[in-house]
Amino acid sequence: MSKYITTPIYYVNGEAHIGHAYTTFIADTLTRYEKLKGEDTYFLTGTDEHGQKIEESAQKNGKPTQEFADEISASFKNLWDEFEISYDQFIRTTDEKHKRGVQKAFEVMYAKGDIYKDFYEGHYCVSCETFFPETQLIDGGFCPDCGRSTTVLKEESYFFRLSKYEDALLNHYAQNPDFILPRSRANEVVNFVKGGLRDLSVTRTSFTWGVKMPESLNDDKHVMYVWLDALLNYITALGYGNDNEKMNYWPASTQFVGKDILRFHAIYWPAFLMSLDLPLPKTIGAHGWWTRDGEKMSKSKGNVISPKEVSDAYGVENLRYFMLREVPFGQDGDFSQRAFIDRINSELSNDLGNLLNRIIGMSGKYSAFEIDSVDVKKFHEKELNAMNIVLDSLDTFIENLQTHRYLEELWRLFAIGNKAIEEHAPWVKMKEGKKDEALATVALVANILAKASIMLSPVMPKTTNIIADALNFTINNASYKELILDKNLLKVFTIKAVPPLFPRVEEPLMQEAPLATPNAQELKVPKTAEIVKEEKVEEDNLIEIGQFFATSLKVGTIVEAEEVPKSKKLLRLQVDLGEGRNRQVLAGIKEFYSAESLVNTQVCVVANLKPAKLMGMVSEGMLLAAKDTEGLSLIRPEKPKKAGTPIG
Ligand code: MSP
Repeated sequence: MSKYITTPIYYVNGEAHIGHAYTTFIADTLTRYEKLKGEDTYFLTGTDEHGQKIEESAQKNGKPTQEFADEISASFKNLWDEFEISYDQFIRTTDEKHKRGVQKAFEVMYAKGDIYKDFYEGHYCVSCETFFPETQLIDGGFCPDCGRSTTVLKEESYFFRLSKYEDALLNHYAQNPDFILPRSRANEVVNFVKGGLRDLSVTRTSFTWGVKMPESLNDDKHVMYVWLDALLNYITALGYGNDNEKMNYWPASTQFVGKDILRFHAIYWPAFLMSLDLPLPKTIGAHGWWTRDGEKMSKSKGNVISPKEVSDAYGVENLRYFMLREVPFGQDGDFSQRAFIDRINSELSNDLGNLLNRIIGMSGKYSAFEIDSVDVKKFHEKELNAMNIVLDSLDTFIENLQTHRYLEELWRLFAIGNKAIEEHAPWVKMKEGKKDEALATVALVANILAKASIMLSPVMPKTTNIIADALNFTINNASYKELILDKNLLKVFTIKAVPPLFPRVEEPLMQEAPLATPNAQELKVPKTAEIVKEEKVEEDNLIEIGQFFATSLKVGTIVEAEEVPKSKKLLRLQVDLGEGRNRQVLAGIKEFYSAESLVNTQVCVVANLKPAKLMGMVSEGMLLAAKDTEGLSLIRPEKPKKAGTPIG
């Protein structure tokens, strides 16, 4: 059976970051693994280019929307090409073929009676491109997914009869336990559906940057809802609604998504497919989120990791290994250079790299680099059995997307090899005149390395090719069959020396993330050399005007203020931002201002921060202040302004 593997299509409102690279690496690894096994596999990735969010980003960057989308889409594609991602197709939702396919799907759903026209009035989050019912909003107005404020919209809209598919979906989850992996994530989806599904608004009239309605509906006031458009990419890429050329790959075997977009893929997507009378994907694999040094990555904190920067510093294959090994699939993971360096030095350099160097060295000394497996079975039956048990166990791990377990088990092979060398000490055997035994141990390790590099090749394709070359074989489906499935050993060959594959890393190769608190930064007195470096950094840190405008700054009037008991720093403020309700802001300014002195004064507030909890209380904004050795001073408008007046 053929395989079809997909990544989400990435929004073109910003450059790729490490989270995007992670999904792409896993999908690429699984694709390479399936191809190694000889499966006919098709791998799709691409970019999601419609919707209000993209339109707004383009405006902020002062570019026509299509031009802006072209640039960012190309930056994703170029990065994946540089990383040698083995995708078969890179789809863009602005491709004509895709748009036609979406229109066709809309027509099919409409003809079936699954799409109807009505009015929608609701709270809309522009950032998530989603309407939310009032009951789901945080504090009556904020988006439950991203925390940004929502706006009330009343629109004529076409609706998809999602409610109709409630039972069918629940049934599908129950009968297909591997539909959502890891299985632990299935509950949240099941509960959401059990909570009742409302019909889904699938068109918009408030903006125009989207796929147009099919001509047959003669209603060009509307454009398609971006999620309908985007999800359908997985079949339009195969020619749905056009030539159906590659529809033989449908249904997908594994569709990778981040946990934040699981709901779209595990509820809306299967419902759309049911409506189109198409089979559902076998598995939706939902991975967790990456943080940096324990902190959420965000543009405003300036701590977003660029995959290119990491690969330039450490090599893309080391990065692939680290990301897939570090995190159990489905869980959140942390990127820290310390953890990365530890894995490079201990697992790649010591366990794997040294093992290879050791046998190259020994075979050079004992047998003029010739390696012969003839006596391996005689002296190393125990090790061969242990090796085969490990090799037989690997498939299940990767098919269940447990990449960290896969690699952990794979590394047992190197432990078997290293232990065999310690136990059998070929150098002693040589002295004792037992050359055949010494050479058998060297050959055992060569076989372990050969088999391990085949299995590691989906994760580290280039590095393992170098190892295979040293061991005089090629990694492909034939050698997979020969050495893994049929469990044969290498034929006689001459081993080649290799350049150091994993040089040890002694200190971080990238600049560390910006310090978390401004205070810590202030305390750092730069030395002369650092000042020069800092100037360069500042240049690198320049932002586009659009990035600045992504922050919503407003004048606020403090209506109430009180001390937070047991906190040395916090004051609890109620701030009027002209929104018809006050925002609660927890500000760390108690040492500098008394609560009473603040009431009825004005401040500058960052108004679009995600709400955060401090000492168990929600804070819905941040005050601007300047702090130096003489203390802290709030930034205030020079003359009183109406509460809510935008700053910028
Ligand atoms: N365009 C939609 C997907 C449509 S698929 C039909 C989208 N795009 S996105 O660019 O915002 O996100 C793409 C993927 O990146 C998502 O799977 C998301 O989970 C993932 N990540 C975004 N930030 C992430 C981390 N910090 N860590 C890991 N993955 C993260 O959503």
